[in-house]
Amino acid sequence: MYQPALTGSGVFTPQQTITNDELVVAFNAYADLWNEENAGAIASGACEAMAQSSSDFIVSASGIEQRFVMDKEGVLDPKRMFPRLAARTDDAPGIMAEMGLDAARQALAQAGRSGEEIDCVICAASNHERAYPAIAIEIQKLLGAGGFAFDMNVACSSATFGIQAAADMVRSGSVRRALVICPEICSAHLEWRDRDCHFIFGDVATAVVVERAEDAQGAHFLVKGTRCATEFSNNIRNNNGFLRRTRDQMEDRRDMQFMQNGRKVFKEVLPMVSAHIAGHMDEAGWSAADLKRLWLHQANKTMNDFIGKKVLGRVPEPGEQPNILQDYANTSSAGSIIAFAKHSDDMAPGDRGVICSFGARYSVGSVLVERA
Ligand code: COA
Repeated sequence: MYQPALTGSGVFTPQQTITNDELVVAFNAYADLWNEENAGAIASGACEAMAQSSSDFIVSASGIEQRFVMDKEGVLDPKRMFPRLAARTDDAPGIMAEMGLDAARQALAQAGRSGEEIDCVICAASNHERAYPAIAIEIQKLLGAGGFAFDMNVACSSATFGIQAAADMVRSGSVRRALVICPEICSAHLEWRDRDCHFIFGDVATAVVVERAEDAQGAHFLVKGTRCATEFSNNIRNNNGFLRRTRDQMEDRRDMQFMQNGRKVFKEVLPMVSAHIAGHMDEAGWSAADLKRLWLHQANKTMNDFIGKKVLGRVPEPGEQPNILQDYANTSSAGSIIAFAKHSDDMAPGDRGVICSFGARYSVGSVLVERA
């Protein structure tokens, strides 16, 4: 058995941002248009007027201040409220592959490795731009990697489930060096016209290199344990599959985008995640006092504050549980890896931390790491 390690991480950040204020101006213009178009029905009581959104609500309910997106103009057009991402020809690199490739190259550079040295690519994401060929295989080809590649989807938990799969393969010796890549174009499966959730998501891609600790070229984190759990729930759901009509048929698309019962998610996921991390640490003989850092899924600040307090048994000190959601919003599977990539350099040998992602299905995955 080999000791798996995380030896590199990378984040691709889109160039365009949308602030809460910009988003709210667009949403409110859309709501005004909708109310004008439906003035008769509203006056007769057949339907209610659409209420305005507010930046203050967004910050206080979620902690989100802005998000990065692949196309700002389409999202902020009140007559469209959806990104304009041009379809590519079959022989051009796909958009997810391109984003993933950028993150992968950064992760490889940090690990001191080249694409040819990779023998497994996992594209772990909430939504994939096509059914097949796998985006992971496209990235494998673009990198010049060998071995094999596959796509997987465990919604927001995809990164940690992917790391568990890669770490298990490295541990057993079936692969030598793997890349787990999470390209997330959340802007294309968010309903920007729904006031309850229009502010939640952003776009990004992350990547991590998982290889034998004995092969590491520089500073790295030993993977001391991984643990995944799922439990069926309909409180977060997206029906956009091949049995449904395509989302181009705009009049009937609501259930083919992200939908959630946010209050229930809050209530049900928090105890599940806190107990999951506590159980995993207990199994590994780790106590809260051993923990230097928590890199949590980035959906909601209040949620993360609660989990941090529950796991550590006290309010986390600044920097112990870094949030990136104020800048990136919820980026689904990529959130905990952005936090890890941007807030782990200062860890000293022997320092321990937990990467934890959670979300739809429900699902929760944790990775216990120790700086070597
Ligand atoms: N602007 C202004 N007001 C808004 C609003 C908006 N955009 N959206 C909702 N409101 C209002 C509602 O109308 C409601 O008003 P009322 O009290 O007068 O009825 C009030 O704000 C509370 O709305 P609610 O939807 O219950 O807010 P919330 O406090 O639960 O926060 C979420 C909403 C989505 C931020 C929160 O539930 C959450 O983050 N849940 C977990 C989400 C999660 O982790 N999902 C995983 C995804 S991978």
